[in-house]
Amino acid sequence: MKNLDFEQFIGSFAFDGRLVEADIAGSVAHVQMLVKTNILKPADGKKIVSGLNSILKSIKSGWKLPKEEDIHYAVEKELIRRIGPVGGKMHMARSRNDQVALDLRIYLRQQTDEIIGLINEFLGIIVKKAEENIDVIMPGFTHLQPAQPVLAAHHLLAYGWMLQRDKERFADCRKRINISPLGSAALAGTSFKIDRHYTAKLLGFDAVTENSLDGVSDRDFAIEFVFCVSMIALHLTRFCEEIILWMNPELGYIKIADKFTSGSSIMPQKRNPDCAEVIRGKSGRIFGSLMAMLTIVKSLPLAYNRDLQEDKPPVFDACDNIKMCMEVMNEMTASMKFVKENTLSSIEKGFIAATEIADYLSRRDVPFREAHGVVRRIVKYCKENSKTLNELTLHEFNKLYPERYPIFKDDIYRHIDLKNVISVKSSYGGTSEKSVLKQIETFKKNMSGKKK
Ligand code: ARG
Repeated sequence: MKNLDFEQFIGSFAFDGRLVEADIAGSVAHVQMLVKTNILKPADGKKIVSGLNSILKSIKSGWKLPKEEDIHYAVEKELIRRIGPVGGKMHMARSRNDQVALDLRIYLRQQTDEIIGLINEFLGIIVKKAEENIDVIMPGFTHLQPAQPVLAAHHLLAYGWMLQRDKERFADCRKRINISPLGSAALAGTSFKIDRHYTAKLLGFDAVTENSLDGVSDRDFAIEFVFCVSMIALHLTRFCEEIILWMNPELGYIKIADKFTSGSSIMPQKRNPDCAEVIRGKSGRIFGSLMAMLTIVKSLPLAYNRDLQEDKPPVFDACDNIKMCMEVMNEMTASMKFVKENTLSSIEKGFIAATEIADYLSRRDVPFREAHGVVRRIVKYCKENSKTLNELTLHEFNKLYPERYPIFKDDIYRHIDLKNVISVKSSYGGTSEKSVLKQIETFKKNMSGKKK
C-alpha cells in the first residue's frame, strides 16, 4: 500500500465533517468562558468569536474547509488563517479529547430531539388510524396461526406502545447525553481557573462530568443512543413484517399507497412491499452499528485512545438510517387502509370464535379441559362439512356433545357473534372497543405532553 495516505488513515476528516456546527458552538462558548475568567483578553476573544462565525457562515453557504487530520483541527487551522496567530489562543485550557466528546454530545442531543419528533409523528398517526378503524375486526395470531379476533385498532396501538417506550428511552438517554465534558482537557483537568459550569450553561447542558478521565473516555452515552435506535429499528421490523404479511393477497388485510411498493420486472400481477422490506433490512446495519460501538470501547484503558475516533461512522450511520426509516414508516402507516371483507373472511376460515364456545361450556359447569376437547370435535366437523361455526344448527352443536345433551341453547349464537367475542374482552388492556377507546385516551394524554 505505497500510496496509502497515512494522515487520512489516522485522521477522521473523511467522516467527521458533520460535527462542524457543534464544534464551532463549543469553541465559541469556550472562548466566552476564557474571557469571563480573565484567561483571555476580551479583544482577543472578540476576534476569535467573529472568526469562528465567519467560518460558520462560509460553511453554510457551501464552502468547504480544507482537509486536515480532523474537523476540529481543520476549524482551528482555518481560524488562524483568517485572523492570524491570535486564533491559536482558542485552544487554551482544553484538548481535542474533551472537545470531541463535547461535540458528539451536542450532535447526539440534537439527533435525539429529531428522533423523538419523528416518534411523536408516528404516535399521532397510529392513534388516528386506530380511531379511523375502530370497527375493523381482524384475526389475532399466536404462532402465526389464527387465534382470537382483535380490533385492528388494538393491534396498531400495540406498536404505539412500543414506540412510546422508545420515546421514553430516548428521553432518558438524553439526560446522560446532556452533560458537558468540556474542561476535562486531555485527561487530568487543567491548571487554568476555568468555569466549566459556565460553558455548560451557555451550551444548554444540564450538568458537567464529575471526573476528567471519565469525561474524555466515556462513550456510554453514544452506545446507549445507538441501542435506543436499535430498539426502534427492531420494533419497526416487527411492524413491517406484519405489513408484508397483511399485504399478501392470500390475506389481503390492508392496502398501502402504491408509492411504497414496486412492480416486478417480469410478473405483471405483483406489487412488492419494498419499503417495508428495506426498513426490515436496515435493522441489520443498525444492529451492526451497536455491535461496532460496543466492540470499539471494549477493553480500552483510560483515558482517551484513538480507537474512539471509530465511533463516528456507526453512530452517524445509525442516525441517518433510523431517521429515513421513520420518515418512510410514518408516511406508509398514514396511507394504510384495512380491507374489512378480507379480515372477516379470514376470521371465519380460522374458526377463531372457538375459545368462546369452550368458555360457554365451562360457564355451564363443564371442566375447561373437557370443553376444549368438545370444541376440537366441533371444529373438525365444520372443516369436514365446509361450514363455519355460526352455520352449525343447534341440533348439530348438541349432537357433537352427546354426553351433556342438550347443553347448547339458542344463546350460543350470540356468544360466537364476532361483535360479542370482541366486546366481552373488556379486561383492562383487552381488545373490547371500550378498553381500546380508553387506551386511545391514555395515548392522547401522553402525547399532549404530560409524559415525555
Ligand atoms: N479525531 C479524534 C476523534 O474523533 C479526536 C482527536 C483525538 N485527539 C488527539 N489528541 N489526537 O476522536
